[in-house]
Amino acid sequence: MKLPHPIQYQGSKRNLASIILRYFPVKFSRLVEPFAGTAAISIACAARGKCNAYWINDLNNPLAELLGLIINRPAEIADCYETIWNQQHDDPIEHYYRVREDFNLTRDPRLFLYLLARCAKGSVRYNAEGLFNQSPDKRRHGTQPETMRENIFGVSVLLKGKSVISSLDYKDVLSNANEDDVVYMDPPYQGVCGDRDSRYFSGLSYEEFAAALSDLNIRQIRYAVSYDGRTGNKKFGNRLPESLSLTLIELEAGRSSQATLLGRDAITVESLYLSPRLAIEVKASPYFHRRRETEQLVLMESKGDYAAKVSKRIS
Ligand SMILES: C[S@@+](CC[C@H](N)C(=O)[O-])C[C@H]1O[C@@H](n2cnc3c(N)ncnc32)[C@H](O)[C@@H]1O
Repeated sequence: MKLPHPIQYQGSKRNLASIILRYFPVKFSRLVEPFAGTAAISIACAARGKCNAYWINDLNNPLAELLGLIINRPAEIADCYETIWNQQHDDPIEHYYRVREDFNLTRDPRLFLYLLARCAKGSVRYNAEGLFNQSPDKRRHGTQPETMRENIFGVSVLLKGKSVISSLDYKDVLSNANEDDVVYMDPPYQGVCGDRDSRYFSGLSYEEFAAALSDLNIRQIRYAVSYDGRTGNKKFGNRLPESLSLTLIELEAGRSSQATLLGRDAITVESLYLSPRLAIEVKASPYFHRRRETEQLVLMESKGDYAAKVSKRIS
């Protein structure tokens, strides 16, 4: 059974969540996600009851606001999605472009949910001015409103009353993390276009990121980072520096987000790095997870008892 995921987002870690969570402590006080995206890891963590507090952050402000609406005002955002979705029938393509134009003027997160559900390959694209410029998917009309409502309420049941949502630069989040936290970081892929990546709001400097991790090591903060990887023979991104003394776990992910981004069928291997304190605590040593193992864990993923709570909240 799948966990609830209202937001389609290329690069989401939902398919790797089960295996990533194996490297988290059994229980801890707070999960901090500075690059939350769809908050896939917070959702998976909450479904397993690993902790009771979540700090969900993303620099992309409409995305962070959308997560806030999903978690705290599920009925409002579900109704709004249904209204916008139902308006598309006369001319779906024209409707999409109208919503996109409105979104680029207003940055309204409610419009963003529709665009994310409806855009080509679920993949966001921004131009150099930061305007959302992805085209519509011409074959599909986006998630049905009832399915969207179930997903929205599913997330709300898991995270409402436990989450703080913000839209800050990751460094401001890290400077406020503490020794009781576990920090999961999934920064934008190191693209071929330097610091700017059209898939996300901003790119990231390798040197600054490595310095931020070094500071976390000094402060003894537990963290895990998804960073580089490879598809077939092609590597994407540089490895994190040896000087950080991280433990490298490799995850064979099949046709994962990155494979799709590169438009290939080749097998993708993604890197997960564990901080020194985290690796000691969970007794991890370098490991390569084969694809079958990764896929089996996804199949075994259980919905937990939130499903019953969701139907109760929706009805
Ligand atoms: C690879 S995605 C994260 C995907 C996420 N793990 C998931 O499962 O959906 C990276 C995210 O980092 C955000 N981001 C980019 N630069 C950032 C920064 N400087 N500080 C915080 N977030 C940033 C992007 O908006 C994007 O949503």
